[in-house]
Amino acid sequence: MKALVWDGNDIILTERPRPKIENSRDAIVKVCLSSICTSDLHIINGYVPKACKNIILGHEFVGEVIELGDSVSDLKIGDRVSANCETFCGECYFCKQGYINNCENGGWKLGCTIDGCQAEYVRVPFADKGLTKIPDNVSFRNALFVGDILSSGYFGAELCEIKSGDTIAVIGAGPVGLCVMASAKIFNAGGIIAIDIDEARLNIAKIHGLADYVFNPNKCDIENEIKKLTFSRGADAVIEAAGGDNTFEIAWKIARANSIIALVAMYEKAQILPLPVMYGKNLIFKTGGVDAIHSKELLEMISAGKLNTDFLISSEYPFSKILNAYKDFDTKANGCLKFAISY
Ligand SMILES: NC(=O)c1ccc[n+]([C@@H]2O[C@H](COP(=O)([O-])OP(=O)(O)OC[C@H]3O[C@@H](n4cnc5c(N)ncnc54)[C@H](O)[C@@H]3O)[C@@H](O)[C@H]2O)c1
Ligand SMILES: [Zn+2]
Ligand SMILES: [Zn+2]
Repeated sequence: MKALVWDGNDIILTERPRPKIENSRDAIVKVCLSSICTSDLHIINGYVPKACKNIILGHEFVGEVIELGDSVSDLKIGDRVSANCETFCGECYFCKQGYINNCENGGWKLGCTIDGCQAEYVRVPFADKGLTKIPDNVSFRNALFVGDILSSGYFGAELCEIKSGDTIAVIGAGPVGLCVMASAKIFNAGGIIAIDIDEARLNIAKIHGLADYVFNPNKCDIENEIKKLTFSRGADAVIEAAGGDNTFEIAWKIARANSIIALVAMYEKAQILPLPVMYGKNLIFKTGGVDAIHSKELLEMISAGKLNTDFLISSEYPFSKILNAYKDFDTKANGCLKFAISY
């Protein structure tokens, strides 16, 4: 089969053998649509130490089950499924508490430490946990982002313990930030503030009704703007989904005293926590590799018309052109947000 492989240095489109069932909880899925995640770029850029060389990249996809291990009972051949970006056993200490990102037998494996989805077929371990059936009225396009960026956005909003009417600031109006905004609406946020240096992305947040206010911190005094909207208190919660050089600093500066700051972005550099300066602000920081445990509920919300992430697909590429897709995604060419790769 054709597969996109990271050789430890670059990516190549090459031939690989079709995966086989290795464990009774495995499934083999025929990939129908996949997407490229910023985290794939982090691997290529050398910022993911655990990533294995010569791995097939990709962890964001939907497809069709074509083979099942003997102990997977709740899926059948032919099921249309959304895949979780994380592999989790459902049985260890962390899984039992919903902290699947820290599963003792899993974590971020697909496209990182085991072969991922940018191939015609992929082996999914613990398939009974890692695959979720897509409702009949939900298309592959509708479901493409459920297992990764939509889960991450929802997780960021959930970490903030949003109360009805809260004013929420979201730093980064990239795919994850936009999913945070869509999720904050579901948690009944009162006002949503989008912060980004990319005007086109701020526009998307506005056009799709995801943000009530948008600010470019390069063009305004962001602390002051947030104060004006919040009786000088600061945002009731902040979700950092940008990972820029100064966005951690913006996050704690614009947060109200006693608020929660959810750090969903994956930083490429260490950040400074200036405790003397923020003393007395009594902030709560939550860091987050996504515990993607809500796939079923998210698919139900999509099915019921309460959530829709289709607007994130800015272009579609055939799998044969995936090298171009990676290049365009990396350079954010042509107003790129997310790509759908079709197989
Ligand atoms: N926690 C998780 O499990 C998880 C899951 C998926 C993605 N992520 C991470 O979330 C982050 C966002 O993902 P994405 O796909 O939306 O990435 P993205 O790069 O497309 O979006 C980031 C946005 O932040 C903006 N930005 C960058 N620097 C800024 C600055 N200084 N001030 C204001 N805005 C700035 C960019 O313009 C961009 O629109 C990435 O770091 C990604 O690795 C984390
Ligand atoms: Zn991802
Ligand atoms: Zn586990």
